[in-house]
Amino acid sequence: MFNKHLIPNAQNLPEGQALNINIEKCSFLVTKQKGQIIAYENLCPHQKKPLTWSSNPALDDDGDYLKCHHHGALFSPADGSCITGPCQGSHLKKATVGIEQGNCYLLFA
Ligand code: FES
Repeated sequence: MFNKHLIPNAQNLPEGQALNINIEKCSFLVTKQKGQIIAYENLCPHQKKPLTWSSNPALDDDGDYLKCHHHGALFSPADGSCITGPCQGSHLKKATVGIEQGNCYLLFA
């Protein structure tokens, strides 16, 4: 059985964009890639700090990668892999996303 939390306006998120949402005491990065909603825990594998601490998207200047604002690690938004930075080769932790009646939800066991 899963608990589910609505990701507000996820279906309206433009392709390639990202948003931050907070659910209870956890923060998540939500992005749309090739039409698919993908979510990651907002926690950098380098020092276990949030990639971003504001509501600003955690994207690099070109909008191509998720960027940690502490030491500049860049992550592929498609699979969460760190492609450069102090934690290169590690991954953001993916969160489970479900769709029900056109709405997107984060699912927790
Ligand atoms: S905490 Fe993210 S790159 Fe260092």
